[in-house]
Amino acid sequence: MGSYAVPFLDFSGIHGPLREEFGQAFQAFLERQWYVLGSEVSRFESDYAQYIGQGHSIGVGSGMAALHLALIAQGIGPGDQVIVPANTYVATWLAVAYTGAELVPVDPDPWTANLSASGIQRAISDRTKAVIPVHLYGMPCPMPEIMDLARQKNLIVIEDNAQAHGARLGTKMTGSFGHANAHSFYPTKILGALGEAGAITTDDDGIAGQLRMLRNYGQRERYQNEVIGYNYRLDELQAALLNVKLKYLDVWLEERHRLAARYDQGLADLPGLRLPPEVKDGRHAYYLYVIHTDQREALQVWLKEKRIETIVHYPIPPHRQQAFAKYGWPEAAFPVANQLASSCLSLPLYIGLSEEKQQSVIDAIQEFWRRYQS
Ligand SMILES: Cc1ncc(COP(=O)(O)O)c(C=O)c1O
Repeated sequence: MGSYAVPFLDFSGIHGPLREEFGQAFQAFLERQWYVLGSEVSRFESDYAQYIGQGHSIGVGSGMAALHLALIAQGIGPGDQVIVPANTYVATWLAVAYTGAELVPVDPDPWTANLSASGIQRAISDRTKAVIPVHLYGMPCPMPEIMDLARQKNLIVIEDNAQAHGARLGTKMTGSFGHANAHSFYPTKILGALGEAGAITTDDDGIAGQLRMLRNYGQRERYQNEVIGYNYRLDELQAALLNVKLKYLDVWLEERHRLAARYDQGLADLPGLRLPPEVKDGRHAYYLYVIHTDQREALQVWLKEKRIETIVHYPIPPHRQQAFAKYGWPEAAFPVANQLASSCLSLPLYIGLSEEKQQSVIDAIQEFWRRYQS
């Protein structure tokens, strides 16, 4: 955070008021002397399942582990194709790579930056087994259309809800549409642990049982290993801290909305500047407030000079990463992903961001437009 007048993120507004509650949770944790898969994990699992509106939530060590296990529990592996957005964080792609299945990237809708049902449909082959819609930046994908298509084509849907806790379509939460859905509680996320954590939610009792076994060395009963499993357990202490935080999630979502609305208002009508899309009947979770402009580099430098920190999510789409070079995709293979990557900029938005600091971001952007864009 260092020398920025407005840092991109500051945890003091969210964690400061919780110090006492965190302390009590830690003392209770010490007294219980139960460090792995204890009562805090169980409580978090049932409360989070209820929050999302699914029958089961299985706590795991990270969002990455959640994606990997969700794919494995659905039997996805070599010979299968999995459709992924061309413009996601690399974790979505890595999970597919771990299983040995083939990645089939699809360019997103340029306005929402999310997969559309028609885009998915065009990429379906007779080897397509699954699709992973990512609710990027907290913006819900069109899940009813995607689920209709999945039913017609017999596809498994795994929502990547890492960035969208609390996003909704109608009254239904993202992370409750697909067959098994991945959630990350990485510290910067809307609901963040104070370390690594994740979960998978599902309504399918059989898949839930598989997931519980897979995250714990492939055993249902201690020392009876039924399948090749993993140590992907949700940490008990992180669960205790998440239990403190979960009850405030809706209050924080409201604050994120207020902050986003202030940016929407303050930055309206600047020519060539695109603001985040609106969700008609539903709720954007505003994990990130991402604007798009073809002056991205110059604007970011301008804001840095004014000691305002911004971040690019994400500068290089996965198909251009060396890790995926063996697929041999040309750089221009996914033009929408490339265009979004070169024009996106995330503005500071965090719990406790003061009106004064936010106004200084708005003023700086308006000044940039007056000087260079008129
Ligand atoms: C879209 C997306 N998927 C998956 C992940 C992986 O989550 P984690 O960092 O908890 O492994 C992240 C975040 O890091 C993410 O943003």
